[in-house]
Amino acid sequence: MSTGKGQVVELILEDGYRQARVACPPNLSPASGQYLLASDGSDSPLPVPLFYTDSASQGFIAAAPVPDSWNPGTELSLRGPLGRSFTLPLSAHKVAVVAFDEAPARLKGLVRQALKQDAAVVLVCNSNPDNVPDDVEVQPLSALREILEWADYAAFEVARENLSQLKEQLSDKDPLLVAKARLTLIQKNAQVLIRTPIPCGGLADCGVCAVTLKTDWKLACKDGPVFDWRELE
Ligand code: FES
Repeated sequence: MSTGKGQVVELILEDGYRQARVACPPNLSPASGQYLLASDGSDSPLPVPLFYTDSASQGFIAAAPVPDSWNPGTELSLRGPLGRSFTLPLSAHKVAVVAFDEAPARLKGLVRQALKQDAAVVLVCNSNPDNVPDDVEVQPLSALREILEWADYAAFEVARENLSQLKEQLSDKDPLLVAKARLTLIQKNAQVLIRTPIPCGGLADCGVCAVTLKTDWKLACKDGPVFDWRELE
């Protein structure tokens, strides 16, 4: 973890939201799933989490949302990279990327990483995302179980309050099918990025980002925000 200065270079509209190209030193650029905390020197008491969505010259593209007050030239004080990133296995050839309840901005870096290692990629979401590479197939959430049976690695993004809905979507009235679906996910090293507010990024142990897992609770800001599925169930 480092601190340093950055700058908003460009604002980009994607999926109807503002994201930002941020220039920063290379050691601050987050990996897919990680984030930086950014302060703009205004009166706002809380820093803004910036998640990686794509690489860019001299920095990276930060996923939406970014504050309305930011413009090209806005100077930022940065701290990071923070949190656990996705770990895409080199052996993964069939990759499912699932944006459960929002546009897939925080997952797009992983999509590009999977394409670089020549994996087939299916993006599962209920929106119509912008700038999806031609090689990527987009499927609705209604096809989720079928896609998970096909994939050999799966990555999800879900808000903390919707995590139980995601688990329900993967369950079934038939307990044998439930067991099979869950076992399949665990065997596939599935990972989940859980979205929560992360006001202190672990600096003050405020607990606002606490997530209840299988046996205890953890802090999404530093134990996550990417968790292994086997930690959840
Ligand atoms: S954001 Fe404060 S402990 Fe996680």
